[in-house]
Amino acid sequence: MDIPNNPPIAVAITLFVVTLFLSLCLHFTEAQIGVCNGMIGDNLPAKKDVVDLYKSNGIRAMRLYSPDLDSLQVLQGSGIKLMLDVPNEDVQSLASDQSAAMRWVKTNVVPFASTLKYVVVGNEIHPSDKQASSVLPAMQNVLIALKSKQLENKIMVSTSIDTSLIINSYPPSNGQFNNTAYITPIINFLTSNGSPLLVNIYTYFAYISNQQSISLDYALFTSNGTVVTDPNNGKNYQNLFDAMVDSVYAALAKAGAPNTSVVVSETGWPSAGGDAATVNNAGTYYGNLINHVKQGTPLKPGQTIETYLFAMFDEDKKPGPKTERNFGLFTPTKHPKYGQLNFS
Ligand SMILES: *[C@@H]1O[C@H](CO)[C@@H](O)[C@H](O)[C@H]1NC(C)=O
Ligand SMILES: *[C@@H]1O[C@H](CO)[C@@H](O)[C@H](O)[C@H]1NC(C)=O
Ligand SMILES: *[C@@H]1O[C@H](CO)[C@@H](O)[C@H](O)[C@H]1NC(C)=O
Repeated sequence: MDIPNNPPIAVAITLFVVTLFLSLCLHFTEAQIGVCNGMIGDNLPAKKDVVDLYKSNGIRAMRLYSPDLDSLQVLQGSGIKLMLDVPNEDVQSLASDQSAAMRWVKTNVVPFASTLKYVVVGNEIHPSDKQASSVLPAMQNVLIALKSKQLENKIMVSTSIDTSLIINSYPPSNGQFNNTAYITPIINFLTSNGSPLLVNIYTYFAYISNQQSISLDYALFTSNGTVVTDPNNGKNYQNLFDAMVDSVYAALAKAGAPNTSVVVSETGWPSAGGDAATVNNAGTYYGNLINHVKQGTPLKPGQTIETYLFAMFDEDKKPGPKTERNFGLFTPTKHPKYGQLNFS
C-alpha cells in the first residue's frame, strides 16, 4: 500500500484500521464454545441450577432443543447466548401458516430476544422425512416474523443437519451434498441472509463405523502428525474433526456458497456404552476439541469454528444405543465427568 501523504486520508485510513481492529476484538470476545442443553432425563437439575452451572463454568452459549419457557426465563440477564430450536414436530405447522410462525416468535423469541443468537428450524431432518419440504418455508416464515419485530439483524435463522447429507467426504475436498434438490434452496436462503449452516459432527460415529480405516488417534485429535493429505489441494489433516468440517465447506462451495460458514451445532464423545466409549477417550476428545477450534480448519485457517458440545448432562431417558445416555459433560448431580474443562 502507498503511504498516504495527504493527512485527511491518512487519518481516515488510521480510523478505518482502528475500527476494523476493534470490531475484530469484539468478534473474538464472542463465545466460541457452547454446550447443548438436552433434557431427556428424569433426574436433571432445576432449570435455574442448570443456568448457574453454565455460568460457574464459564460456558457462555447454550443450545436448547425446544422453547422451554422456564429455561428461557432463567436465561434472561445471564449473558448466555442461545441457539434455540424449533422442534421437528413444529416445523410443518410453522411452514404452512405464517400466523403460527408469528405466534411462535412472539411467545418464544420476542421476550427473550437479548439472549437469542440463532433460531434452528429442525434438527437432522433428512430429505426423505415428512417434514423435509417444510424446512425452507418454515425458515422463511420465521424470518418474516423476526423482520416484523425488527429482529432479523440480531437473530439468525438456520437449520441443523447431520453429515449423512454429505457424500464423498474422503478426501475432504470431494465432499458434496447428496440431495441437492433438498439442500440447495436452503443454502441459498442462508447465503442471502448471511446465516451459517449448522452441522452436527461426530468423529465418534465415523470412527466406530469404520475402525479398519480410521485410527482412534485421528478421531481424538491425538495423532502426532499429518494423517491425511488431500491430493486435490495438498491440505494436511491431523484430525478427523477438521476433515469432516472441511468436507462440509467443500460441499457448500460446490453448491455455490463458498462463503457460507459452518457452525458445529453438536459434537461429542460418549463415556460409556460402546466401542471406544470411555471416560478417558471422552475427556481427551472434549479437551482437545476446545483447544483446537480457535485454529480453524485447513480450508479455513484462523477462522474459529463456533462449536456446541453435546451435551451438558447424561440423559437417562434418551432412547437408542447405550452410548446415547452417556454424552454428558456433567452427571445429573452436577459433577464434572472430565475434570475441569476450560470452556472460555
Ligand atoms: C442419496 O440420496 C438418494 C435419494 O435421495 C438416496 O436414495 C441415497 O441413499 C442417498 N445416498 C447416500 C449415500 O446417502
Ligand atoms: C507419537 O509420537 C510418539 C513419540 O515419538 C510415539 O511413541 C507414538 O507412537 C506416536 N503416536 C502415534 C499415534 O503416531
Ligand atoms: C466470496 O467472498 C470473496 C471474498 O470476499 C468474494 O470475492 C467472492 O465473490 C464471494 N463469492 C460469492 C459466491 O459470494
